[in-house]
Amino acid sequence: MDFRENVPLAPYTTFRIGGPARWFAEASSDEDVLEAVQFARSKGLPLFVLGGGSNLLVSDEGFPGLVLRMALRGIRKSGDKFYVAAGEDWDGFVSHAVGLNYGGIECLAGIPGTVGGTPVQNVGAYGQEVADTILGVSVLDLETLTIEGMQASNCGFAYRRSIFNSTERGRYIVTAVVYNLHLDAKPSLSYADLKRYFQDKQAPGLAEAANAVREIRRGKGMLIVEGDADCRSAGSFFKNPVVTPEHYARIAANNPSGVPSYPAPEEQVKLPAAWLVEQAGFHKGYALGEAGISSRHTLALINRGHARAVDVFALRDRIIAGVEEKFGIHLEPEPVLLG
Ligand code: EPU
Repeated sequence: MDFRENVPLAPYTTFRIGGPARWFAEASSDEDVLEAVQFARSKGLPLFVLGGGSNLLVSDEGFPGLVLRMALRGIRKSGDKFYVAAGEDWDGFVSHAVGLNYGGIECLAGIPGTVGGTPVQNVGAYGQEVADTILGVSVLDLETLTIEGMQASNCGFAYRRSIFNSTERGRYIVTAVVYNLHLDAKPSLSYADLKRYFQDKQAPGLAEAANAVREIRRGKGMLIVEGDADCRSAGSFFKNPVVTPEHYARIAANNPSGVPSYPAPEEQVKLPAAWLVEQAGFHKGYALGEAGISSRHTLALINRGHARAVDVFALRDRIIAGVEEKFGIHLEPEPVLLG
């Protein structure tokens, strides 16, 4: 296995931002992952596991440890179960499953990144999230240095959350994911954008639904398209916040033209962060130096060309302060920060 020094990280991220990794390696097998962990330990280096870099903002100084890029490949099918290596391209796997007429992840088409990242933040879109279909994961436990199977019920899945990005952050490296998909399923068309897309059309199959999601994402700059500045981002930059019904009622009273909302667990109310950001005065196409807001979706902060991480941080802070002042809601960034 090759350990390279001072490797620029920007090209490995969809934001195209960030300084170098002190050390960098690519793992193609479980053995490589173990070797990399031991390399980092022998040198006393922090370890960062990189997937598709699509939910990541790397600091301008870079990372003083070892960045391990997960390049493990392979999809194995057994009945309705798909065993997928962490380094497989997510959208490629969606196409593969849909091509075999398996449903359960068709609404997650067009999401950039790799399979291994999907359980970490419980990737979700258009009415589905991977927690709905994940049966379990294969992980390297950094405490025991053994590869273990873990059932979904032990992964602590919730909205954009799992034990891997919260309580057990840094303990496990996801090496493979097992999805339980549904043969000949009808596509899930619960989300308003998708319903609208198909309203005057024939009931779509799984592949048509997946393509519709890609089309909708493209329209919002949420599909990676070469040369499209709006997708030089990490997708949604903020999570959709959850507030109490009382808090929601106060906001609604001040906004007679209506406040979009969704039901959240325990009678709470989820608000679209994009709406809050706009109401606080940050419009699509807003620019602050080299950082900006996508011209097609208010929730995507973008690199307008030569942005540094500090430029994005300045915009992030300005938006958080604006939304906090207007609504008393503290928005939480969604992407992982490194360095
Ligand atoms: N909205 C605006 N302005 C905009 C866009 C949206 O005001 O520019 C408001 C509208 O009220 C709209 C609502 O926000 O009805 C919801 O917008 P959208 O359907 O685009 O979804 P979202 O809540 O902004 C979430 C996920 C996305 C996922 C979409 C589709 C989060 C943080 N984001 O966005 O996930 O693709 O739903 O399901 O939950 C990501 O996590 O990186 C991501 C892209």
